[in-house]
Amino acid sequence: MSNRIIAVINQKGGTGKTTLALNLAAGLAQRGSTHLVDADPQRSITQWVGMGGGNSGLPGVAQLGGNPTGVLGKLARSHRYVVVDCPPTVQGETVAAIMRMAHLALIPILPSPIDLWASVDMALAVKQAQRDNPDLRACLVLNQLESRNALSRDMREAVAEFDVPVLSAGMQRRAAYRSAAVEGLSVYGVGKRGQHAVSDIEAIIEEVLCL
Ligand SMILES: Nc1ncnc2c1ncn2[C@@H]1O[C@H](COP(=O)(O)OP(=O)(O)O)[C@@H](O)[C@H]1O
Ligand SMILES: [Mg+2]
Repeated sequence: MSNRIIAVINQKGGTGKTTLALNLAAGLAQRGSTHLVDADPQRSITQWVGMGGGNSGLPGVAQLGGNPTGVLGKLARSHRYVVVDCPPTVQGETVAAIMRMAHLALIPILPSPIDLWASVDMALAVKQAQRDNPDLRACLVLNQLESRNALSRDMREAVAEFDVPVLSAGMQRRAAYRSAAVEGLSVYGVGKRGQHAVSDIEAIIEEVLCL
């Protein structure tokens, strides 16, 4: 099964890693058994899932501890999908171990050329990781889009030049992403309020599962 271990990664904070990881995992959980991994020392995804209590319908969250390879290997054997919320860095042994094990790296970025160029190190890190793990694929995921066709010409040109492909599906800027987080839920868990955000995530999942 390809794309079993999906790492959500960007060395920049605030680009939507935790938001994408959690909602992606919630959508994947409807397709097959899914587990989250919180690799960020800030523990935001652990707190988020903890807030929703037992009835949030969210996948379980594991920590990597001192043995990332062992923990990821074990989860990947017992689940169809493992989604890893990475720390905001490309340095260090933990991220290196995740990138060696992952099938897909999703890199959420904000739709500005400045943010894109800040991700150049990410592209280099992915290239480096692909030497050890040739099966690793990587895609940018645009986040906080203002409208489906709002990408500026500058941004389109910048994305086209970038070494890592960009998914055609992305996440729009929507209040539902924030309010679901406040309630400890995914956008799937907030009913009608979340329906447009669910469409974003479903489109991302459909695209990712076809890679
Ligand atoms: N598409 C979106 N629409 C509205 N708010 C968003 C969206 N994506 C992320 N956010 C908000 O932006 C902030 C940063 O997102 P977060 O997922 O925590 O980023 P990271 O994990 O990369 O630091 C959070 O408050 C989150 O709720
Ligand atoms: Mg985060």
